[in-house]
Amino acid sequence: MTCIQAFILDLDGVLTDTSIYHFQAWKRLADDEQIPFTRADNEHLRGVSRRQSLMLLLGTQRNDYTEAEIQEMMARKNSYYQELLAELTTANFLPGASELLQALKQRGLKVAIGSASKNTHTVLRRLQILELFDAIGDGYSVEHTKPAPDLFLHVAAELGVAPETCAVVEDARSGVEAALAGNMLTIGIGPEERVGAAHYRYASTAAIDLDEILGSPK
Ligand code: BG6
Ligand code: MG
Repeated sequence: MTCIQAFILDLDGVLTDTSIYHFQAWKRLADDEQIPFTRADNEHLRGVSRRQSLMLLLGTQRNDYTEAEIQEMMARKNSYYQELLAELTTANFLPGASELLQALKQRGLKVAIGSASKNTHTVLRRLQILELFDAIGDGYSVEHTKPAPDLFLHVAAELGVAPETCAVVEDARSGVEAALAGNMLTIGIGPEERVGAAHYRYASTAAIDLDEILGSPK
């Protein structure tokens, strides 16, 4: 097996559970627009870009809106989301996230972020880990978002390592697909039906077993 040199971590749903904030912000927009939207509907937006998320939320009504209206709704949802992000603190780390970061550093691996979110820097700053990463890929880094491999390939290039020496940790189906398409070792967080295509799967970030993935540290 190729020797893993770097870990590329998704942010929302791997290091912090901002998905509740994304849901609350989309729900507020959906209520404004009188569109039904539930927590279960929100699950389909995991790892999906802001624009694509809005398209899913609007469903068959998407063609009733002009481009200007779509832009305004994306901006409105983001302002609702940013209001909620103002409350984000280090208490919002998912269990095991800090320990994972520490363990990866201790093993001498490069550690990077690969998130579809344009709010990545804000979230990392609020979690007080912005300075920790060797590279940060976010919603501004590439044109084609997950499930295209572009973001993870971009991060690997930033790190100066070959894609096949990277491991990706992802909680979204689209992210798992992106990592596999990028020829990277793929670690899924969540249920089989969502991330079962990954090489390794764990129920939560806290359950990740680096010894199983990498072997015991020397
Ligand atoms: C992903 C989230 O990380 O980022 C999605 O899982 C979100 O729910 C996407 O839609 C884009 O985020 P943002 O912050 O750019 O709207
Ligand atoms: Mg995610």
